[in-house]
Order: sequence, then C-alpha cells, then structure tokens
Amino acid sequence: MPVIAILGAQWGDEGKGKVVDMLAQQARMVVRFSGGDNAGHSVVNPYGEFKLHLIPSGIFNKDVVCIIGNGVAINPKVLIGEIDNLNERGVTTDNLFISDRAHLIMPYHLLLDGLEEKARGGKAIGTTLKGIGPVFADKIARLGIRAGDLLDKEALRDRLTTIIDYKNTILTKVYKAKPLSLDGVYEQYCQYGERLAPHICETTIMLDEAVNKGEVVILEGAQGALLDPDFGTYPYATSSSPLAAGACLGAGLGPTKLDRAVGVYKAYCTRVGGGPMPTELHDETAELIRERAHEYGTTTGRARRCGWLDAVAARYTSRINGLTGAVITRLDILDILPSLKICVGYELDGKQIGYFPGDIAALARCKPIYEELPGWQTDTTSIRGYDQLPEAARNYISRIEELIACPVNLVSVGPGREQSIEKTPIL
Ligand code: GDP
Ligand code: IMO
Ligand code: MG
Repeated sequence: MPVIAILGAQWGDEGKGKVVDMLAQQARMVVRFSGGDNAGHSVVNPYGEFKLHLIPSGIFNKDVVCIIGNGVAINPKVLIGEIDNLNERGVTTDNLFISDRAHLIMPYHLLLDGLEEKARGGKAIGTTLKGIGPVFADKIARLGIRAGDLLDKEALRDRLTTIIDYKNTILTKVYKAKPLSLDGVYEQYCQYGERLAPHICETTIMLDEAVNKGEVVILEGAQGALLDPDFGTYPYATSSSPLAAGACLGAGLGPTKLDRAVGVYKAYCTRVGGGPMPTELHDETAELIRERAHEYGTTTGRARRCGWLDAVAARYTSRINGLTGAVITRLDILDILPSLKICVGYELDGKQIGYFPGDIAALARCKPIYEELPGWQTDTTSIRGYDQLPEAARNYISRIEELIACPVNLVSVGPGREQSIEKTPIL
C-alpha cells in the first residue's frame, strides 16, 4: 500500500482538500507537511462544508491518524479555533497530533508580515498576512519557537526574553511600531501550550510505523509548486516548499519511502496575490469562470485571478515534482464553454520557448501560444464513469496528459466526495 503525496501543481487552491478528504476514506494516516494558515482547504462531505487551514483534511475519518508535521508553521490561536469548530460540529480531534518540531507563529510575525508588505509598496507580494514569511525566516535564522517549547514553561520564557527584545528593537527602531510585552506574549503562549499539550509529540516514529506496516499514508500539500521559494515565481512566492521533496522534509519521511507524487491541477488556472501569470484573462471568460466557480480565496476572500490552463507551467511542475499521476479538478466549471484554450508555449521577445523562465521579468514578458479545443457544453457534474464523459472532455484530458507527460488518475466534477471520476487508480 502506498505512501502518496497530494501536491498543488499550480498556484494553490487546486482542490487538494477535496482530494485528500476523499482519499482519506481509504487511508490510515494524513500528514500536513508545509505552509501554515495561509492555506485554506475547503472540504464538502457528510459532516457539512469546512474550511481547514491547519488541520489535515483526513480529520473527518476518525480512524485516520492526522499529523501536523514539522514543516508546518502553526498559529496556535487559529489551530485551537479550528479544533473547537470541528468539535462543535461533531468531528473528533482525538486523532490529531502535532509535531513538537513544528514552528509557531508569534505575534511579532503577524505584525512584521503586515509592516514588510506595507514597506514593499507597489511591489507588495500580496501575502495572506498570516506571518508566513517572518516565521520561516526565523526558522532558518534559528530564532524560532517550536511547538515542543510550549511544554517547558521555564525554557520558553528564557528563549522568548531574548527573542522579544530583538523583535522589539526591529518593531520600534525600523518600523516605528509599538513594542510587544514579554509578559503578555508569554502568558498567552503558556495558555495555548496547556490547551495543545495533549496533541504535541514526536511524530516521525508514528509515521515510520505506519509506513513499515504498509498502511496508506497521505502527505497533504499546501499552496502550489509555482509558489515554491526555489521554483516558483520568486519573490512572488510563499516561504516553505509545496513540492514532493518538501513533503518528505516537512513530514519527516525519507525520500525513498515516497511511492507516489500526485499533482492536483485545476482544469484552468487561478492565482491570488501578485506576480506574473502568463495566461491570465481580463475578459468575460475570466469573469464567467470566477463567478461560476466562486473563485474567491478561502483564507482572505480576495478575488482569484483566472485564466486558461498553462501547460508550459503544468509540465514544469510535473517535472520538478517527479509526478507519478495527476488529478484534474473543476472540469465542470468549463461545461458551458463552446471552446477552450490551452497554453502550449510562450513567445518571449519574439522567440518561441517551451520552458518556464526562472526570471520573473522574462516570465512577465511571455505571451502565451494557445491551442484551441472544442468544448463539450454538457453538464458533467453527475457523471461518474470516465467513458461517460463527453468525447470533447476526454480529448481535453488526454491532451493535458500528453502535455504534462504524466497520466491522469482522477477527474473531479464537483466539490462533493462522490463527484470524482477515476481514470487510473491512485492507490
Ligand atoms: P485547496 O486549497 O487546494 O484545498 O483548494 P480550495 O479549497 O482553496 O479551493 C478549491 C475549491 O474548489 C473549493 O471550494 C472546493 O470545494 C472546490 N472544488 C474542488 N473540486 C471541485 C470540482 O471538481 N468542481 C467544483 N465545482 N468545485 C470543486
Ligand atoms: P492553499 O493551500 C493560494 C499565496 C498568497 C501570496 C503568496 C505569499 O489553499 O492552496 P504567504 O502568505 O504565503 O506569504 O503569501 O502565496 N498563497 C496562496 N495562494 N492558495 C494558498 O494555499 C496560498 N498560500 C499562500 O496569496 O500570493
Ligand atoms: Mg486553498
């Protein structure tokens, strides 16, 4: 039985939450491995509709062990709110474990995310303002506070004393902002610690045991490959790796143990925040997709930028992830269109290129070269068998398979678990 990573293969919001919730019905463990509450995973299932930011989307199966891995940055207040919300709605969180190595988002991270964005002016990244850049910067600078630190109050106070002093210098001297109170932050985080202590532990041993027993283990991605700090549209990127390699690191799994890397793609493209997006549309098709698909951010409510499927970018993310398979979501959104475009190359400074440039100034100058395919103009939302899809829809999927050079496992035609069409098995 496989260890399988479910990865965002575009700019996030591809429908990872739906896919993980569905697959978790057959799994034993789900591990979130990156990001923080910048992620928003919408899940629609028999319990209702949920927007998860930190808790793995496997939580609705009480027999699944859910782990928030070392690679996640946790805002404890948000996590406690999420636990309470699930419990109030009849979902148990007794099966939730938090890696003691996961870093915590602190009040100064939230303040600095806002202040840094403001300082960027017209070049703002359009972050979610959840403290993500600052918390991962502190992790690498060895200035972080980790979940395990909440379990030793004396050591926590000692560490916080030095860090708050340093952060207050930056807040007051660089940004002319108000300083934070050491006592206030300490008391608040001690309370969070008391609440979260039953969940915080060493998690890599559990993971190893499940892998060795041959159980189905899902590594749940956040964000998407084009937001990766190395391979995304840097600096318009996030601050932890949403890639298959990041999955291993952020869960505590040796790369040789990962059996499958499955990329989730929308049948078109969206992006929230700043940065180049070659196939972005500013016409009635974009408006139609946005309204039909309700393309507004789960975390921030911002309107998502919409455009045609970019197969140059899609092939690139398939390659850097080493994808073994793909899921195509939101095919139903395209049901009404008479024809569809796929970007199969770029024109850069008068030359045709087939790769995704690392330099965002070059990417911003890329003009998409489109191939046009007929639409199907048929409602696909209640179709369950691949062969029952209209021929034009199957042709669209086959063309995507060719362009991204990997097989499609699953096609999604609605937010519900059952609105999924298997093409080739994932598990
Ligand atoms: P994630 O961040 O990758 O988990 O994706 P989001 O939850 O932010 O955004 C995906 C949205 O699409 C959610 O509202 C899902 O309920 C919804 N969704 C997922 N798959 C489909 C699909 O095949 N069709 C439709 N219409 N909606 C879908
Ligand atoms: P899920 O898991 C879409 C984007 C932000 C911004 C950039 C940096 O739901 O797919 P950050 O707050 O991370 O410093 O912002 O990354 N971003 C996302 N966009 N889906 C997400 O997560 C995202 N997480 C971050 O909009 O452009
Ligand atoms: Mg999302």
